[in-house]
Amino acid sequence: MRPIQAAFPATRFRRNRRTDALRRLTQENTLSVNDLIWPVFVRAGEGIEEPVASMPGVFRRSVDLIARAAVEAEAMGIPAICVFPYTDQSLRSEDCAEAWNPDNLSNRAIRAIKRAAPGIAVMTDVALDPYSTHGQDGLMQGGTVLNDETLEALVKMTLAQADAGADIIGPSDMMDGRIGAMRSALEGAGHKDVAIMSYSAKYASAFYGPFRDAVGASANLKGDKKTYQMNPANGDEALRLVARDLAEGADMVMVKPGMPYLDICRRVKEEFRVPTYAYQVSGEYAMIEAAAQNGWIDGDRAMVESLLAFKRAGCDGILTYYAPRIAPLL
Ligand code: PBG
Repeated sequence: MRPIQAAFPATRFRRNRRTDALRRLTQENTLSVNDLIWPVFVRAGEGIEEPVASMPGVFRRSVDLIARAAVEAEAMGIPAICVFPYTDQSLRSEDCAEAWNPDNLSNRAIRAIKRAAPGIAVMTDVALDPYSTHGQDGLMQGGTVLNDETLEALVKMTLAQADAGADIIGPSDMMDGRIGAMRSALEGAGHKDVAIMSYSAKYASAFYGPFRDAVGASANLKGDKKTYQMNPANGDEALRLVARDLAEGADMVMVKPGMPYLDICRRVKEEFRVPTYAYQVSGEYAMIEAAAQNGWIDGDRAMVESLLAFKRAGCDGILTYYAPRIAPLL
């Protein structure tokens, strides 16, 4: 329905923008602390907080400091934290067995967070890239990323994360059939209440660069991920992927990256009306921060505007490295 609109001068849009009070009164969308999921990087050691060069203000933290950060995030009201491991190169292998080691870095971090900040939801990453020598998200044979063999590995990884206390499993691997395989394994293992947020529409994007530095996968990765991540030119395919994942038992769905794919967020929300999230990825964060550091844009204002855009596009929440910086402002 098109709103009825009198002609000028009966209608003057500037009336509703005249004062701050009127602008607030007519504001359509708002960002809340409840919309935030904070992605964090965990590394080995103790008492370590190491900056990620390509992501100013973002750190790799040892397990003890991740737990402390989670306590602070919980105190700020951030509802969820998402753990990504920087795995030592010596623990990476062809078969990626470290991925389902119950005591790997990620699982130790999950346990430490649940102990220190029981009220914050812990989300995980399910993909093999932090554990493989080649930096691909799946098992490889002769230059091909294998689908069905990878599913078995992803299921083992999922169960280890659920055993460690994860609340939300986050498959970012883009293999076909993973949601169904993970869902039935979780049910079978008694983890019936563990949720899955599927990276349903994940694009083969140039905007993941800084993240790959953060998890130490950049140097290992040869080539690209185009045989499993989506073609940036496609939109309808995203809707088919979301439909597929919901049918296989996903509880929430995600679009990634965020800002270049706001049209996809909007289409997913309108088509399915399910909990829909966007990942404001490392490259989006790095672009804003780099411009702000050069004095070319106002970083705080760009942060707020970029996050509000996700709400306007229909998202229920955002994975963002800005979570702890924006939470106190909300
Ligand atoms: C890997 C994974 C990636 C991100 C999250 N999980 C990178 C990739 O697919 O290569 C990117 C997140 C970001 O850029 O902030 N499974």
